[in-house]
Amino acid sequence: MPALTTTSDGFLLHGEPFRIISGALHYFRVHPDLWSDRLRKARLMGLNTVETYIPWNHHQPDPDGPLVLDGLLDLPRFLGLARDEGLHMLLRPGPFICAEWDGGGLPDWLTGDPDIRLRSSDPRFTGAVDRYFDLLLPALRPHLAAAGGPVIAVQVENEYGAYGDDSAYLKHLADAFRSRGVEELLFTCDQADPEHLASGTLPGVLAASTFGSRVEQSLARLREHRREGPLFCAEFWIGWFDHWGGPHHVRDAADAAADLDRLLSAGASVNLYMFHGGTNFGFTNGANHKHAYTPTITSYDYDAALTECGDPGPKYHAFREVIARHASVPDEPVPAPGPKLPPTEVELSGRAALMPLAGAPVRADVPLTMDALGQRTGYALYRTTLPAGGDGLLHFAGGVGDRALVFVDGAPAGVLERERHDETLPVRVPRPGATLEVLVENMGGVNYGPRIGAPKGLLGPVSFDGTALRDWDCHPLPLDDLDAVPFAPAGETAVTVPAFHRGTFEVDAPADAFLALPGWTKGQAWVNGFHLGRYWNRGPQRTLYVPGPVLRPGSNELVLLELHGTTAARAQLTDTPDLGPENTW
Ligand code: GLA
Repeated sequence: MPALTTTSDGFLLHGEPFRIISGALHYFRVHPDLWSDRLRKARLMGLNTVETYIPWNHHQPDPDGPLVLDGLLDLPRFLGLARDEGLHMLLRPGPFICAEWDGGGLPDWLTGDPDIRLRSSDPRFTGAVDRYFDLLLPALRPHLAAAGGPVIAVQVENEYGAYGDDSAYLKHLADAFRSRGVEELLFTCDQADPEHLASGTLPGVLAASTFGSRVEQSLARLREHRREGPLFCAEFWIGWFDHWGGPHHVRDAADAAADLDRLLSAGASVNLYMFHGGTNFGFTNGANHKHAYTPTITSYDYDAALTECGDPGPKYHAFREVIARHASVPDEPVPAPGPKLPPTEVELSGRAALMPLAGAPVRADVPLTMDALGQRTGYALYRTTLPAGGDGLLHFAGGVGDRALVFVDGAPAGVLERERHDETLPVRVPRPGATLEVLVENMGGVNYGPRIGAPKGLLGPVSFDGTALRDWDCHPLPLDDLDAVPFAPAGETAVTVPAFHRGTFEVDAPADAFLALPGWTKGQAWVNGFHLGRYWNRGPQRTLYVPGPVLRPGSNELVLLELHGTTAARAQLTDTPDLGPENTW
């Protein structure tokens, strides 16, 4: 008997009436030293439950390797901390999670095989899922309510009705949980649309919905689909995510709180998406691709109740007030904003060229995709010789995945972007036999819709003025280890782009900070080896979040990879985030 059961219009927990008042918090988007702080703040806002996805691609990077469960991925520790805080947990293990996460959480070793029908009952897909669940479930079982843990429900797939209608696949997943000892309540979640609900739900499995507004209408649609059972909004969108080049989306706190009040007044259960968004650290962000490719930014602030750095924002206070009208909230002080580092300037006086760090090449007649090179995130460098000189057109058949910097004899010659559907670039070649280099950046794997798993790198043959270019050296450049970067004082190195820049700064008491890079163009940032993520002056975000725990008392190191060029040799750590011009929805 599961701990959480359903009645004709609600939930019982251990036999007592219960309403889920939950908020989403992705452990993999928050520094692990800050998990307990965020969970405590969830409880203090009045939440009784926290929800998280589980990103398959990071937990199982190698199909034959063990499950990765440490650092940012130490899910058992996160679940233990939630239990210590007295919170229940909802788990959403996918296998597909969407979530603006690279590839929607599907591993590249799976999506790289074009023959596999993803998210279907194709045995090549379900077989891989089964092997993953064989590893995952033993790690989760001690944390299920049946074993005294905090997990009271588990989601099957994610908004499947927006993607497919293979109910045998959904049934396979539900059976996969049951046969591996999950007794807890199972649920599906789908957008509040009759067709989505029809395709994405399963008999005997609770149907929940996702929406951000039109509360009564959305609940009515869910009720039309299921005449009985609890009404549960499994994702109540209280903010939204941002794309590079777009605005910073915000939602008025009073408007979101009024809708939360409507939901709770209707007797529904809710999971706020997001309670705390966190950050797409490193190369973890996803992308959308409807008519054009649009990658998600580094911040996943989401205009959530807790800001990216974990401070209570306007919604925290507004939601706490609403929740107090419907349930008891802890009689404890509302948390104050955390301390911030005093503004600090960082002089970046060390330099190292990027290109020499490219790994050993694979020789190929036509460029290999990054996937074929066995590398999914980061960059790849392609090098060949241009047989003829003069003005001409480079043609990249199939475009680039996702942004390519072109160099002729080491000089920047232009940029191609998947976002703009670029396939050609006019270049001037100074001499026959000039070297062509193409540095391609993976800007994030599509996480929604049919283009999940779209390849990265150079995507097809390249020609110059109609002549096919052959004999490519294809170098992986994953940038997963910077220890070997041979920094030298700026004055002793030739000015090259792209280049690494290094500086040190002193810290008295570690605290959260925000890295501002005025004068810099586009690249990556690391503090003390922790990969903060991508920066880009295209915006909207103008600062990157630096979690306090990555800093240490004394000397600290900032490394930037700048792809284009900089007018400054310094960076700033500020005490205020700047996520760019706002657009209210
Ligand atoms: C859907 C998905 C989530 C997320 C949101 C948008 O609801 O289920 O994973 O992508 O959209 O943030």
